[in-house]
Amino acid sequence: MTPTFFDFFKSFYYINSYVSPVDLSDESLSKHLMRNENPELAQTAQRLISCPEVQKALGQPITYDRTVTEKRVKTLNDHGFKVLSKSKPIVEHPDLPGWIIKSGANPLSKNRFIRGPMNEKKETSFHVPEDSLLRIEMADRIAKIAKEENIEVVLPKKRLVTFADTQGITDPTQKYCILSEKLNVLSEENTSQALLKMDVKQQRELAKKISTLVQKTGWVDPAVRNLRLTPDGKLAIVDTEPFSLMTTKKPHPFVPRASIEKCARVGLFVLLESLSETNSHKNILKRASLPGLEEFHKQIKSDYEKTSSPKLSQWKIASSILSLGVLPLVHSVIAFSSIRYLEKELAEVQKMRKDFDEKINAYYDECHRKLETLDFFEEHHKKLLLKLTPIAKNIEGVPFPQA
Ligand SMILES: Nc1ncnc2c1ncn2[C@@H]1O[C@H](COP(=O)(O)OP(=O)(O)O)[C@@H](O)[C@H]1O
Ligand SMILES: [Mg+2]
Repeated sequence: MTPTFFDFFKSFYYINSYVSPVDLSDESLSKHLMRNENPELAQTAQRLISCPEVQKALGQPITYDRTVTEKRVKTLNDHGFKVLSKSKPIVEHPDLPGWIIKSGANPLSKNRFIRGPMNEKKETSFHVPEDSLLRIEMADRIAKIAKEENIEVVLPKKRLVTFADTQGITDPTQKYCILSEKLNVLSEENTSQALLKMDVKQQRELAKKISTLVQKTGWVDPAVRNLRLTPDGKLAIVDTEPFSLMTTKKPHPFVPRASIEKCARVGLFVLLESLSETNSHKNILKRASLPGLEEFHKQIKSDYEKTSSPKLSQWKIASSILSLGVLPLVHSVIAFSSIRYLEKELAEVQKMRKDFDEKINAYYDECHRKLETLDFFEEHHKKLLLKLTPIAKNIEGVPFPQA
């Protein structure tokens, strides 16, 4: 389903606030350099990341291609690193105890958009090229707001290290890695166990704290994998990628900047999703809570439902009245042209998809034809048939639930 004229028109009147663009110039980033604070540690980190193969592996974008990730993991393992995230280069090394290295590289491969978390209303966040470097600014934002809201949260100290040779490199994503203090946090599983042990009141209080943080900061990815408890029960945040909530002073024309309100709606949905039973086809809002997390789930669900419809801005409505209908007229025209544009573009996208699918299918057919001429393919199917026929005969007439 696509948005209607009224959806476009109404969206102008929603309250949307934005985070100011972040300055990622060398001058501005220099305040985060580890060498200002601990030159020895910065030097060790620089030595480890600057070996050419390691530097190359750390500079790669997000990938879910197993051959690429396996190669990357092997290269990093061969240089003594332990890999913490397969899709992105996030590592630790015995020479840097207590620290985690997160690559600052652009997570996007050329010409690809990568979608971040989204909610059931299709409100979406996107990866931006500087996402990883912006982890520092986002961690500072969360820390500042948590303090204002009187919420205790543990955030790792984050600093930058540069590769040894950065001459001629202007793109900051190719120059820096983030050194993140390794927090003593419970594993995902143990965090869930600790949540389960909390009584109703404690669950509700913690849920309220997280929900407030998400709503005030616009943190879009508060899934349990990024949000842990410490052994003494404090709330800790290990992943502060801001996605499109934060952009740089040189914005990217294809990545829409997301408002705090929208990111909060997505964030609460993500949290709700990570607390809901997974083996159900019902939509998330109808899914039951994971057993034992009912109070936590109930609180987040109720907060999500409260915020899931954007609020209308009083001043925008007032200025529309004061303009004697001129503003609404202008926005009707904009909404009308937006909807026309969308219809036209979607029709083209559909056609592109159809042409693309046809080409892919032809390729599959060709592949299959080729496979069928190969001995191992035929042999495998022959053997499989010999095994499967008696099995099929054996279970004939025996009804059993399918997995
Ligand atoms: N500061 C930290 N302290 C402890 N563990 C961490 C820290 N940062 C990351 N991790 C571990 O590494 C994993 C991947 O890091 P994360 O920043 O979440 O990567 P990604 O952006 O790929 O989700 C986390 O799920 C967590 O287990
Ligand atoms: Mg993460």
